[in-house]
Amino acid sequence: MRNHDLQFLKHFSMVIVFLMGVTVVLLIGAFYAHSLHPVDPDPRAEARVAERIRPVGGVYAGETGAAAIAAAAEAAAALAASQVAYDGTLDGSVIYAQLCGACHTNGAGGAPTLDRAHWDARIAKGVDTLVKHAIEGFQGEAGLMPARGGNPSLNDAQVEATVKWMIDNLK
Ligand code: HEC
Repeated sequence: MRNHDLQFLKHFSMVIVFLMGVTVVLLIGAFYAHSLHPVDPDPRAEARVAERIRPVGGVYAGETGAAAIAAAAEAAAALAASQVAYDGTLDGSVIYAQLCGACHTNGAGGAPTLDRAHWDARIAKGVDTLVKHAIEGFQGEAGLMPARGGNPSLNDAQVEATVKWMIDNLK
């Protein structure tokens, strides 16, 4: 090898070594900067921990207990009732698709499906009665129709619209 080739190799190696040094310094700097940044705990992990360490049974006794539970249940029911289900829609098809259809489409739990044969006798009771039964709940021979289809935040007008939609859409 000629002399200036050697010279070049020497300088070139020095540059490479220098750049490797810079790389290592940057890596260490990055790790350090990362370690300074606090990591938010994963909410799912926190929920799991809370679930594991919660007491096995709550103590509900004396003045605070029963009364507090009753008050909480009442507040929850009032809240549910004051909320408007399904954005307050009066479109029976929407409410049916989201709620009532769970039972009435396949006849789960004895619910009458939207076949005319299942409804003639019911319609004979009068649509108002059907609406009333859908609002208040109804225990018939076929099964239990839960009040408001099980969603207390559905208002009367919504239930009525859905019952009428069901009757209009019998096959
Ligand atoms: C958990 C299942 C279930 C859901 C959800 C449900 N129903 Fe029912 N529904 C039933 C059953 C079961 C019956 C039949 C009761 C019987 O006659 O024995 C019934 C009956 C009815 C009747 C006829 C009542 C009568 O007097 O003959 C109407 C009307 C009705 N449902 C409307 C609705 C509407 C509207 C919704 C949604 C807001 C809904 N149902 C959601 C189970 C359900």
